[in-house]
Amino acid sequence: MLLASAGLLLSACGTPQLGKQSIDKVLKAMTLEEKAHFVIGTGMSGNSGGGATVGATDLLLPGAAGTTYPIPRLGIPAIALADGPAGLRIQPIREGDPNTYYCTHFPIGTLLASTWNQELVESVGKAMGEEVHEYGADVYLAPAINIHRHPLNGRNFEYYSEDPVVAGKIGAAYVRGVQSNDVGTSVKHFAFNNQETNRTANNAVISPRAQREIYLKGFEIVVKESDPWTIMSSYNKINGTYTSQSRELLTDILRGDWGYKGLVMTDWYGGDDGAAQIAAGNDMLQPGTDLQYEQIMAAIADGSLTEAELDVCVRRCLELVLRSPKMKGYEFSNKPDLEAHAAVTRQSALEGMVLLENKGVLPLKNVKNVAIFGCTSYAFIAGGTGSGDVNRAYTVSLLDGLKNAGFNVDDSKKDFYEKHIAEEKAAAQAALGNSSLAAFYPIPRPTEIIPSNAELAASARKNDIAIITFGRNSGEFFDRSSADFSLNAGEKQLLNSVTRAFHAAGKKVVVVLNIGGVIETASWKNIPDAILLAWQAGQEGGNSVTDILTGKESPSGKLSMTFPVNLMDHGSSANFPIDAEADVYFPDKRPDLGVKDVDETKYEEGIYVGYRWFDKNNIPVSYPFGYGLSYTTFDYSDFATSLADGKVKVSVKVTNTGSVAGKEAVQVYISAPAGNLDKPVKELKAFAKTNKLAPGESQTLDISFAAADMSSWDESKGGWVLDPGIYKILVGASAADIRAITNVEVK
Ligand code: BGC
Repeated sequence: MLLASAGLLLSACGTPQLGKQSIDKVLKAMTLEEKAHFVIGTGMSGNSGGGATVGATDLLLPGAAGTTYPIPRLGIPAIALADGPAGLRIQPIREGDPNTYYCTHFPIGTLLASTWNQELVESVGKAMGEEVHEYGADVYLAPAINIHRHPLNGRNFEYYSEDPVVAGKIGAAYVRGVQSNDVGTSVKHFAFNNQETNRTANNAVISPRAQREIYLKGFEIVVKESDPWTIMSSYNKINGTYTSQSRELLTDILRGDWGYKGLVMTDWYGGDDGAAQIAAGNDMLQPGTDLQYEQIMAAIADGSLTEAELDVCVRRCLELVLRSPKMKGYEFSNKPDLEAHAAVTRQSALEGMVLLENKGVLPLKNVKNVAIFGCTSYAFIAGGTGSGDVNRAYTVSLLDGLKNAGFNVDDSKKDFYEKHIAEEKAAAQAALGNSSLAAFYPIPRPTEIIPSNAELAASARKNDIAIITFGRNSGEFFDRSSADFSLNAGEKQLLNSVTRAFHAAGKKVVVVLNIGGVIETASWKNIPDAILLAWQAGQEGGNSVTDILTGKESPSGKLSMTFPVNLMDHGSSANFPIDAEADVYFPDKRPDLGVKDVDETKYEEGIYVGYRWFDKNNIPVSYPFGYGLSYTTFDYSDFATSLADGKVKVSVKVTNTGSVAGKEAVQVYISAPAGNLDKPVKELKAFAKTNKLAPGESQTLDISFAAADMSSWDESKGGWVLDPGIYKILVGASAADIRAITNVEVK
């Protein structure tokens, strides 16, 4: 209030005020020092990062990740930037305040992508955005859309897919949903951020073609289809230059080629030269350090950066502040509809769970008594660790979910399991000690408890079915280890002994995978009677899994990535820091470690990522891209394809030929004619999902995409080239289940 009236007073004396006078006038009234401060955040609570104004964010919105720099004399408020992407990340409990500020933990990105349902993801984004708006944040640091280049990337759970069209379309839907609340998003991490090991200094070496067709394509789709308020540059380098310092990436490609009009901010403490970032078109540096301010001022003094270049970034920062809820004086309630959002997360999670195996056991029939095994059944994982974690009020475990649905679950071991889990967690934390990584390290999963044969036999007599949950967790700073990819000895022993005992009693066993990334399945997938890949389904996880197990909803999720037979089958495995050790480095200390794939990672597989690699090399997989079972069956018919007015139009009739209602995700791939360039066997170009179809019901899906989307990036020409010839259009239920092939001719 005081500041506002001071602003009015000054305004009366002629000092321009943001929102009252034009941006031009405000910009003109700023001193050089103010400009250099304005493009830099106010620091991060608990981390001075070189002496910026620590604590400013906590005053504005406790637990937010960053704040913009306020200039009261010009009517410029600070706005709050908060994580993402599985829900808003703020401080739930505040000193001296009896209220709580919990946020909804929605499903992880990988689960959302596995829905293949853009409308649904948009509605989830809308619910997330409401929490952003009502808790007083201005920009939500999400979605995260980097490509799943390798299964062990520790942040794959936040990301969507190995395919750029899935990443782009799902990301665009998410942005539209969030931004419908008049708050901003920050699409991250732009770009080529495909490993956590040495993430702040790693140099990704990638061909222009792989950049354009694979790693940039998703961002291009999001920019063109949803107009995000902001984009977050990544930590890594691309071909020797930090992405946040690459004018080619942030100005020539993003703004020049794609027409992006919004703001680019750094990832937190990303890059090493504030002046180079401004010159590249990285408009805002977060969370901000004094060093960056000095770098900008020094560069202007010695002429290597012009004030006009700085003005370009200042203007974009002003535009961002101007459109923020804070600037509009939005009186947030601190009371988002958490109950409604719990229903949104529970329901949306159902569509992204993937039924991998089912030998007639699901949905559960005539089951009353359920035995649960595996520590994770008692301690469900809502989502990954790090900035992508959400401070939620609760997580529904499988035990709770089954009980909520009225099953008799033997929970006599509950206390025992909870004690075991807590003890192992404490021991793991103690072992990490005070290392710089300790606060971030995902605590290893507790060792499995293997009941004795007698206990198992008794359990199999008493119960109608056994459910075993296996869990995996990961998060930023670390990639997963090769050991994490496979079931460990305890998990295998548990699976084998439970299955032996229950099968001996004529009872079935279901495995639930509560994981954030791909694991090995080929060696054990035939042991249980069903496998449900539940991903990390947010705070209602146990309820959502139960809804699928009981058949309240038929599963309709499909894999947005390949499950390989072996980790090393991936082309990217030849150049990924598998089991490499690296510390976390901030800008002042980034040594050249001299380790392959740590200092520098060569993307030698080029465009052959995910199914493109397995197709090209004819390598068998455990589960193909796009795969997922249902409780019903679908017939595809009446295929039609045309090419007119620059658009490929595909239509297909999908009929539910089974006995329960369900949805089906349909995928459209192309296979390009041989031209000058090497072409993938097939590439996804579009997808759609049916409504919930009753048994016998049909729906015709009309799916279209631009003919230009069939182009390849020709490095010799430095541009997209659409070769003439016959293009095959493949309509499939998965990459390995193509139901029809038609042709279009490009002249
Ligand atoms: C992460 C970003 C996140 C930022 C702010 C960084 O460590 O890479 O994804 O938005 O922190 O919390």
